[in-house]
Amino acid sequence: MVPRSAALLLVILTAPLSAEVRDLKAFYQERCAACHGTDGSGRGPGGARLGGRNLADGRWLARQEEKDLVTAILKGRGAMPGFRRQIHEAEAKRLLAEVIRPLAARRRPTPEAE
Ligand code: HEC
Repeated sequence: MVPRSAALLLVILTAPLSAEVRDLKAFYQERCAACHGTDGSGRGPGGARLGGRNLADGRWLARQEEKDLVTAILKGRGAMPGFRRQIHEAEAKRLLAEVIRPLAARRRPTPEAE
């Protein structure tokens, strides 16, 4: 487990900036936040449920298989549409690593979940 974050850092530092690299944070806010919330919680600014699952639930996220999450993003799941026309598999993986997992890491438990 130890080298994992080091390897990730290496990937981030050495990843070439190409035309294919797009702002996945912006992509999340444009395509995902309407259902999952800007913070991944599945709630809007007023606390209203938006209908998407709480992606910022770190305990849930830790139990998920990476490939299942990628499949859900690309092919859709339940009420969620698939995004394979908009992003490649590699980008879906980056979206998870760079946007969704950090949301889960940062998020404090909501008061009512305590
Ligand atoms: C129209 C609303 C909607 C949009 C837009 C949406 N989702 Fe979802 N998402 C859902 C719902 C509803 C679920 C729960 C699906 C289920 O388990 O039935 C879900 C589940 C998920 C899951 C968990 C899948 C699993 O294995 O349980 C991930 C990851 C996810 N969404 C990521 C994204 C990402 C990334 C985007 C933007 C590219 C996005 N979603 C856009 C509604 C949405």
